[in-house]
Amino acid sequence: AVPGLLDRFGRTATDLRISLTDKCNLRCTYCMPAEGLPFLAGPKLLTREEIARLARIAVQELGVRQIRFTGGEPLLRKDLVEIIEDCAALEPRPEISLTTNAIGLKSRAAALAEAGLDRVNVSLDSICAETFATITRRPFLNRVLEGIDQLRSVGLERTKINAVLMPGINDDQGVELLEWALAGGHQLRFIEQMPLDADHSWTRDGMITAAQIREKLEVRYVLTPDEAPRDGAPAELYQVREKSDPTGALLGMVGIIASVTENFCDDCRRTRITAEGGVRSCLFSEGETDLLALLRGGATDEAIADLWRAAMWAKPSGHGINASGFEQPARSMSAIGG
Ligand code: GTP
Ligand code: 5AD
Ligand code: SF4
Repeated sequence: AVPGLLDRFGRTATDLRISLTDKCNLRCTYCMPAEGLPFLAGPKLLTREEIARLARIAVQELGVRQIRFTGGEPLLRKDLVEIIEDCAALEPRPEISLTTNAIGLKSRAAALAEAGLDRVNVSLDSICAETFATITRRPFLNRVLEGIDQLRSVGLERTKINAVLMPGINDDQGVELLEWALAGGHQLRFIEQMPLDADHSWTRDGMITAAQIREKLEVRYVLTPDEAPRDGAPAELYQVREKSDPTGALLGMVGIIASVTENFCDDCRRTRITAEGGVRSCLFSEGETDLLALLRGGATDEAIADLWRAAMWAKPSGHGINASGFEQPARSMSAIGG
C-alpha cells in the first residue's frame, strides 16, 4: 500500500483542514486586529479546481478520511457549495465538515447540506449581544443565532459550538452559554486561548484554563468525564447533569479543548492546507510547504503527494507553548486556517 501522511513521531494524519480564504467578516480580538490584515490577492487563492485536485490526492493517495473547511470565514467563498460537491463525489467518500462563524449561513444551509456537508462547528463566544459585539467588533449576534437555528431545519445535526473564554470579557458567561447550548441540543466546547492572535498579546495569565472552566461550570452543573474513546478529538468530553436535580438526568455533553494545559499533540491526526496552497503540518509549525507552484506548474499527482508527505514527515512533536524559548508563529489563526 502507498504510505499515508506519516511523521517522525509515528502519527498518521487522516484529517485534512483546508482554509478557503484568509478573509473574515468579523474581527475577533483574539484572532484579527480591528483594521484587518493584508489579505491575499484573489489570484493567490486556491481555485475550486485546485481544491478538488488536492482533496482527491489526499483521499485517494494519502489516506485522508475527513475534510474540514475553515478560513478566515469559509462562507465568504462564493463557490463553497461547488467545492463541497466536488469533495462529496470522491471515492471513498470523506466526511465533510465546516468551521464557520455562521454569518450568512441561514440562506445557504440548505444548499450546503444538499451538496453533501455532513456537520458544522460554529464559533460563538457569547450569546449576550453586547459581549458578542465587544469580542467580534461587529453587531451580528442575531445573524449567527439564525444561522445556527437553520442547521437543524435542513437536517444538519451534531452541530458543535466553539467558545473561547477570556478574563473580564466573557469568563462569567460559561454557565449561560452551556444552558443555551444544552437547550438547543448542541455540543458546546470551551477552548483555551492559544498564542495565535494577530496582536501577539497572548499571555499565560490572560488565558482561562481548562481547570478554571470546569470550576466555573461546576457552580451549577455536575461534570462527569465521558468514558468513550477520544479518538484524536481535541475536546475532552463531560456528561452534564444539574447539581440540584435529584434524579440526575443527563442533560447533554460539554467539551473542553485544553490545547495549552493538557495538549493532545501526541495523538494529532491533522494536516492543513492554507488558502494559498501551502501544507502546514502543525498550527505551530515554523514554515509551510508550497504546493501551489506545483499545482500551477504542471506537476503530477505523484509529485504533489510526495511533497505533501515530506512536509508531514517534518511535523513537530507538538506546539511547544509550554517550553522555554517558545515563539509564537508569525501568522495568526485567521491566516493559518483554524
Ligand atoms: P471536530 O472535533 O471534528 O468536530 O472538529 P475540531 O474540533 O477539530 O475542529 P474546529 O475547527 O471546531 O476546532 C475547534 C478548536 O480546536 C479550534 O478552535 C482550536 O482551538 C482547536 N484546534 C483545532 N485544530 C487544532 C490543532 O491542530 N491543534 C490544536 N492544538 N488545537 C486545534
Ligand atoms: N486560540 C484558540 N482558539 C482560537 N480560535 C481562533 N483563534 C484562537 C486562538 N487564538 C478558534 C475560534 C474558532 C476556531 C476555528 O478557532 O474560536 O472556533
Ligand atoms: Fe497537532 Fe500541532 Fe495542533 Fe498539537 S498544536 S494538536 S501537533 S497541529
